Amino acid sequence: MEGMTLLVTGGAGFIGSNFVHHLLERYSDIAVIDLDMLTYAVNLANLSDLEADPRHTFVRGDICDRKMVDRLFQEHRPDMVINFAAESHVDRSILEPDVFVRTNVLGAQCLLGAAREHEVERFLQVSTDEVYGSLGPEGLFTEDTPIDPSSPYSASKAGADLLALAYNRTFGSPVLITRCSNNYGPYQFPEKLIPVIIMNCLEGRPIPVYGDGMNVRDWLYVGDHCSAICRVLKRGRPGEVYNVGGNNECTNIDMVRTIIRIMADRLPDAGIDESLISFVADRKGHDRRYAIDASKIASDLGWEPTTSFERGMAETVDWSLENRGWMDSVISKDYLNYYDRNYSQR
Ligand code: NAD
Ligand code: TYD
Repeated sequence: MEGMTLLVTGGAGFIGSNFVHHLLERYSDIAVIDLDMLTYAVNLANLSDLEADPRHTFVRGDICDRKMVDRLFQEHRPDMVINFAAESHVDRSILEPDVFVRTNVLGAQCLLGAAREHEVERFLQVSTDEVYGSLGPEGLFTEDTPIDPSSPYSASKAGADLLALAYNRTFGSPVLITRCSNNYGPYQFPEKLIPVIIMNCLEGRPIPVYGDGMNVRDWLYVGDHCSAICRVLKRGRPGEVYNVGGNNECTNIDMVRTIIRIMADRLPDAGIDESLISFVADRKGHDRRYAIDASKIASDLGWEPTTSFERGMAETVDWSLENRGWMDSVISKDYLNYYDRNYSQR
């Protein structure tokens, strides 16, 4: 990647900002153009340490704005595009689906069109295992599992995947798709399960567990996800899909109990215990189980996750405790409104 220019969209968000840091820590001669609209899900503090870094150019803009996107391509001539930009939260997609179709489908199409016209070497669409729908108690998602999304969020991500693959087949665009499982780590917005648990432990608020708490997710440390994306950019075959997983299935209730234990250990006088657990009404269309078969990326590209769940989770909790200011700063009026809308009627 040395000597290259990368257009990273959504590079101020949770995974995108981790990815931008990952790149800049590893490559000295690289230019990262970071295009992000700065939605509610972003705290610019995620990128504040990069303000003086000449390798990083931040542009505030909408991936659906083709004129602006074309201007960016003309000005910076990126070699590669990595599209993280998205509306990313399932519960919000149940409350307000429209923006998911706009950003996740039309935005991806806009970028694919511009990348085709400007002949980029690689276009990586960051997708999700949620496009496969839900598993029963057995089996794993492979890249051949049929697309069967349940939520407006996952349907919009599936739409983008299909468009990306169609650009490859129709126009020969050098498109790659990664489908990863649930990420966790620093800078995650506290609407997703893990930061909700951490935040509510700190605030002494009930921890809402949907349904019976037995839904399963396959947790992937965000740093491992970043290294998988680099590997796919370097060695992946255009037109291919690569699943990325953490080999780490866990029920939600076990996850809640684990984090309560770690938090209580770190803050023994804070009264953090299992009495905070509050079972609430289930999410509509709630997928029961996700679990990834990541053998293709392991055998074809030699990538495997390297962060154990114990280490990744300890680092995530410690980061949250050391960055209380960051956590406090994301509690905006919008956040409180959303929290109320999502949880008060359960
Ligand atoms: P996030 O919500 O933290 O970040 C998304 C970023 O996209 C934000 O910075 C936001 O401002 C930006 N954005 C939204 N609309 C935009 C627009 N129209 N134009 C430009 N920028 C816009 O989400 P995340 O968790 O970092 O997810 C990143 C990507 O990874 C998404 O595509 C998501 O679908 C995918 N993904 C996430 C997970 C996960 O566990 N978080 C799992 C699988 C896949
Ligand atoms: P989430 O972090 O929203 O990721 P996704 O829905 O994309 O998998 O949710 C992870 C799991 O946790 C999912 O099964 C829903 C559940 N969940 C709760 O039980 N309570 C909560 O407050 C949230 C946000 C999620």
